[in-house]
Amino acid sequence: MKAPFQMDRRGFLALAGAGAAGLALPSGLAAFARASEAPPSELRIQAASYRLRDAVTENMVSVFPDAPPPVLRMREGVPFSIDVTNTLEEASTMHWHGIRVPNKMDGVPYLTQWPIQQGETWRYSYTPKDAGTYWYHPHCQTMEQMARGLTGIIVVAETDDPGFDGETVLNLRDFRIGKDDQFMKLFSARMAARGGTLGTVMTANWEQNPIYEHPAGSLVRLRIAATDTTRIYTLTMDGADGRIVAADGHPLREELPWPTAEAPITVAPGQRLDVALRMPETEGQDVVVTYRTPMRVQALATLRATGSNMGRTLEELRPLPPNRLADFDQASSEIIELVFGWSPGGLKPNYGFCGSLGYTFWSIDRKPWPGDAAKGTEPVADLKLGRSYILRLHNESPNTHPIHLHGLVFRPLRSNKRTLPSNWTDTVVLNRSETIDIGLVADNPGDWAFHCHVIEHQKTGLAGFVRVS
Ligand code: C2O
Ligand code: CU
Ligand code: CU
Repeated sequence: MKAPFQMDRRGFLALAGAGAAGLALPSGLAAFARASEAPPSELRIQAASYRLRDAVTENMVSVFPDAPPPVLRMREGVPFSIDVTNTLEEASTMHWHGIRVPNKMDGVPYLTQWPIQQGETWRYSYTPKDAGTYWYHPHCQTMEQMARGLTGIIVVAETDDPGFDGETVLNLRDFRIGKDDQFMKLFSARMAARGGTLGTVMTANWEQNPIYEHPAGSLVRLRIAATDTTRIYTLTMDGADGRIVAADGHPLREELPWPTAEAPITVAPGQRLDVALRMPETEGQDVVVTYRTPMRVQALATLRATGSNMGRTLEELRPLPPNRLADFDQASSEIIELVFGWSPGGLKPNYGFCGSLGYTFWSIDRKPWPGDAAKGTEPVADLKLGRSYILRLHNESPNTHPIHLHGLVFRPLRSNKRTLPSNWTDTVVLNRSETIDIGLVADNPGDWAFHCHVIEHQKTGLAGFVRVS
């Protein structure tokens, strides 16, 4: 049995390893590695600048002046607590995506807490019940703050180490910067009514194709999170032997095929993937995490083999222990139908301090979300605590919506369009004209935000909440 943090420490060394290879280690990356070692006691939301490409990009948002938001490391079953201080002139909150927190720790403005105004601090305390890869982001002024950088990864370690030699964590996201490397207009009504506004520079941990070193033939846990506001990633891990071991935090119930150039794996905004990789045997050989569409092939991050072959095999890994999730009872499940589509329009939403695009285009059950600060909002579904439910999600629009539910986990049961592996998740991709049944147990009381994770869709009506009481 290894020391509890040994795997993590090696992960940091690997992260910092780009320097050892004689490559310039960007100062921000060094800070990223350093900052990752001990969980900070405070996240100070603040303006930042960083060299994303050629010139330094100003007007970014992070919790350091010159580095990306750190990886927050927690342990399954161990209480976690952090102060979030907002130094920006606009309001903010922090949300812990995928973590089953008590409702009042969920970070949703007006629904579970007041917005955190400039100079204010809000303490979040909870005990993560589930091991896995999660992430954090604000839930107020999201189009600004997330698009400018405020998205970070959470690693909740298992009690028992599965036997990896090292770890690399990848925060995948775009930045929408122009030729001068400064931010361009981050969103528009035109794109909000379509697929959303894409960025111009694809990054991993705020770098373009960073290189992380791991011993040749070693076993690496690659944790990937898609934290972009818009982009749906389709990925391959070129040059590696490997398998997918968890999705959206949770160890797989049903196998996911190893992605290939013909069939890359989809990781939509909000989703995560844990990959067990065996590094190539020869020094200098690379595993390339690659974004692939018919139009574009782009290296996002590289894992480089160093030293002599450790000769490990994937079979040596112990399976990830499943998280303790209540399974639902199909037979007793009530079916609730929800339609995702256009909004009848006309409504001027009220987001209070949390930023509005000024329009509504989208809706759940033909009711556009009237805004986070709107009074008298009703839940889209009223669930009884402890009961099992099937939510039938129907997309009547031609766009893709990664639909995310806070506070509860669910698993897809069936789609009218494809075979869907029934793995536990908090975010499911709903394709055009698709209907997906998801099953869940309403075992966490409270009002849980339920929305599309394409942020321009969320902020133009495709949002609501589910009540468990
Ligand atoms: Cu990832 Cu409501 O959020
Ligand atoms: Cu969430
Ligand atoms: Cu959407």
